[in-house]
Amino acid sequence: MFNLNELNELTHHLSRLQYLSEAIAVDIGLKHDEIMKVGIAAFFHDFGKLLIDQNILNAKRKLTLDEFEHIKQHVTKGSTLLSSIGLNAELIDIISQHHEDYDGSGYPLGLKGENIDIKARIIRIADFYDSLRYKRPYRDKLSEKQALEIMRSEKHKLDPYIFEIFVNCTLKKINYSNQYHLIESKKLIESYV
Ligand SMILES: [Fe+2]
Repeated sequence: MFNLNELNELTHHLSRLQYLSEAIAVDIGLKHDEIMKVGIAAFFHDFGKLLIDQNILNAKRKLTLDEFEHIKQHVTKGSTLLSSIGLNAELIDIISQHHEDYDGSGYPLGLKGENIDIKARIIRIADFYDSLRYKRPYRDKLSEKQALEIMRSEKHKLDPYIFEIFVNCTLKKINYSNQYHLIESKKLIESYV
């Protein structure tokens, strides 16, 4: 049985990611269809977490290596689940690459640089930022400044061009909070339709 508060946090994370990823996609100049794919993939990217042991996922302590390996499986489990219900193959590819890192240190495949779909590279940056800005079971939320400091210290994991646009363009104009992201998302969609 899922805990409602934890489920609520996951669904808000997915909604914010859809909004933030679409905003970055607009700023780097992707075409309408590609922006739509980024948004849909961002919304579904962590569905695999529903198939992970919730006690491990929400543990308020440092995880063991085995537990971390279990959580990493949310990527392949999610892709398999979404594929089984008919989500299209291109979206599954993006979702299955959302934890790949630009320097090749990510998972599950260790893809590198432009071998990672540009849409997954966008979601990776949005996901990294959002996970720092919001409370996690093991730490409090961080400010924009603190989040960016951490991202800069690990920038080798991120597409440098997309990260620059994200910091200097997207972050300067979005209204990033749970109260506003749905309204902002609607405005954003209307602006590019
Ligand atoms: Fe994830």
